[in-house]
Amino acid sequence: MASPKSSPAGAAALHGPEVTRRDFLFVATGAVAAIGVGATLWPFVHQMNPAADVLALSSIEVNISAIEVGQSVTVKWRGKPVFIRRRTPAEIETAANTPAGDLPDPQADKDRVKDGKAEWLILVGVCTHLGCIPLGQKPGDQRGDFGGWFCPCHGSHYDTSGRIRKGPAPKNLAVPAYAFATDTLVRIG
Ligand code: FES
Repeated sequence: MASPKSSPAGAAALHGPEVTRRDFLFVATGAVAAIGVGATLWPFVHQMNPAADVLALSSIEVNISAIEVGQSVTVKWRGKPVFIRRRTPAEIETAANTPAGDLPDPQADKDRVKDGKAEWLILVGVCTHLGCIPLGQKPGDQRGDFGGWFCPCHGSHYDTSGRIRKGPAPKNLAVPAYAFATDTLVRIG
């Protein structure tokens, strides 16, 4: 179980305070109810100091029962933002129907979700170019040309599977190790 002592200092240093704060503010205002015991919310730990024992924590548990279709939330895991999006049927269909062979980093959508739960997409929210935090978690955010996430640092566009489609990023947004403990509880790490 995670503690609220972890720090986003590494990510903030990489991405600058403005982008980081904007992304995580959404979690504080829109998705608190969705996060269960064990998960940490970035705004709540923003000014706290890291502790070696906390940084070493390998997993968090997130209660996803309150996340609605079409909603995204961000949690922190191992000092990184993790995006959890409950995708709409249209987002799933678009992702599934994209031929993997056409992609810069070919991967089928079904291989980026777990247990056949296509509704749930869980990604490390760090651009694979130079490490900015892509936009797309907050309503009204730019989501790029493919409806997923958009990295404003140098213009990388990710699709609704988190796969890189356009721009300098070389790889898809990473899928962290995770498993569904129940239908409404996911263990990340
Ligand atoms: S860091 Fe995302 S496009 Fe450069």
